[in-house]
Amino acid sequence: MNKPIGLLDSGVGGLTVLKAVIDCLPNESIVYIGDTKRCPYGNRSKEEIIEYTLELVQFLMDQHVKMIVIACNTATAHTLEIVKNKVDIPVIGVIEPGSEAAVRLTKSKKVGVLATVSTVDSGFYEKSILGKDESIHVKSLACPEFVEIVEKNLYETVEAKKIVEKRLESFKTGNMDTVILGCTHFPLLTPFIQERLGIEVTLIDSGALTSYEVEKVLKEFKLDAKAPVTRTIDIYTTGPEKPFRTIAQNWLQTSELNVRAISLERLKLTHD
Ligand code: DGL
Repeated sequence: MNKPIGLLDSGVGGLTVLKAVIDCLPNESIVYIGDTKRCPYGNRSKEEIIEYTLELVQFLMDQHVKMIVIACNTATAHTLEIVKNKVDIPVIGVIEPGSEAAVRLTKSKKVGVLATVSTVDSGFYEKSILGKDESIHVKSLACPEFVEIVEKNLYETVEAKKIVEKRLESFKTGNMDTVILGCTHFPLLTPFIQERLGIEVTLIDSGALTSYEVEKVLKEFKLDAKAPVTRTIDIYTTGPEKPFRTIAQNWLQTSELNVRAISLERLKLTHD
């Protein structure tokens, strides 16, 4: 079926998932929305996260998407079940693929999770990991300033390196061998996080794993695009278009992108 796949995030973070999806599924069209204006979600209340996410979901539904990927851990933690009950198309989040991989990979049975305040407080990763193997010890750390530095497009700077080092200073890994990047913004900081934690630690980026899940679901529901097609990648942001485009082009390295701003007023209008 040649309808687009819908992805949502609080900002640019979900582009790490988008990158994996467009690489893995070259025939699929995408509509992505990043709620830059109200980013970060990670410091917001559960009620706000639900309200905003449902607005993004409605926007994607209005674009006639055939499936929704909640490309945000914070929104996945608080809204996955709600969104699944709300729409009649397949919906997946990013937490299950990441925790499944961690359970499979850890030998030391010690797994770290770096995420937003809200995701850490939700305990969703622990629940998901312990539900698969209760002998695993999970240690989580909230890293809210990582989101900010990525949104500001400063993720390759010395300032970003310092922020990562400072936040991870007290994160004692011991014999922890696997760390989940439990926020879709964090893979953009991978070099600094890896340097700080050491090469013996495997970092899990849920993007690639989620893209395999997307492929599986599309096949299962017979929704996959029939080749050959000219796909489109439409990216919307509730913030200013230019900085979003710069990050998207730099990260995705493709000229296929159409980046547009959509005001919150218009987004809400489509929701009412
Ligand atoms: N990218 C998001 C996540 O995966 C949220 C970042 C934020 O808005 O705080 O959790």
